[in-house]
Formats: sequence, C-alpha cells, structure tokens
Amino acid sequence: MIGKLNHVAIAVPDLAAASALYRDTLGAEISAPLDLPEHGVTTVFVNLPNTKMELLHPLGENSPIAGFLAKNPAGGVHHVCFEVKDIRAARDRLKAQGARVLGDGEPKIGAHGKPVLFLHPKDFCGTLVELEEV
Ligand code: CO
Repeated sequence: MIGKLNHVAIAVPDLAAASALYRDTLGAEISAPLDLPEHGVTTVFVNLPNTKMELLHPLGENSPIAGFLAKNPAGGVHHVCFEVKDIRAARDRLKAQGARVLGDGEPKIGAHGKPVLFLHPKDFCGTLVELEEV
C-alpha cells in the first residue's frame, strides 16, 4: 500500500545552523525556509537524489514540535513520510486494522500542497508516520 519514502523530517533547534550543516558540510541542495503557520512550523527541504529531508523548526506559540524539542534539545528524527495513492482508502484500511490516526482523521494540506495524515507512533514501532497522497 505505501509507496516511496517522500521525506524524513528532523526537528531542529536552530534552522540556520541545520541548513548550513546540510548545505555546506554535507553538500546538499536545500530550499529557502517556508513558514507554515497552520502547522506551527517553518520548514527547509533538503533535496536528495532519491528522497528529501525536512528540517522542522517551531513557529508560533503552540507549535506541535515544541514539546518534541523540549524533550530532545539537540533535535532528532521527528517523522517519516510515505506516499500513498489514495489517502482516504489508506486511512480506512489502517483504521480497520486498529491503527490510530491523529487529529480528527481528516486529511489536511501539508507542506507540498498535498493531503496528509499522521499515524500514532505507538502503532508504528515508536515512529510518527505521515502519509501523503501523491
Ligand atoms: Co513531513
């Protein structure tokens, strides 16, 4: 059911430093920072030949990644994102198998302008999973 790995997201305490690390030290092509107020994050995408990395930094008062950074002050892997063809069909199949979908269960528009959903980390080996319809 799941397709390509779309991206691996890392929460970072210092977006400029993380961007410099990926651009200068690792020699990757990175995007300009993009504020996503409705998601409470600023993102920088690192474009790799086979996938992307998403650098996440809190934006605003109630950022969903503020708690994660409080527990992981140096930053850390926050989620992985898999592509699916039909996000509602994927959700229904996963729910029927007992997986928990976060929020109200309805897809929201994510960082690439496409519908996304998040799955509970306790149901997926301790890893927050994002599904993106492509
Ligand atoms: Co993501």
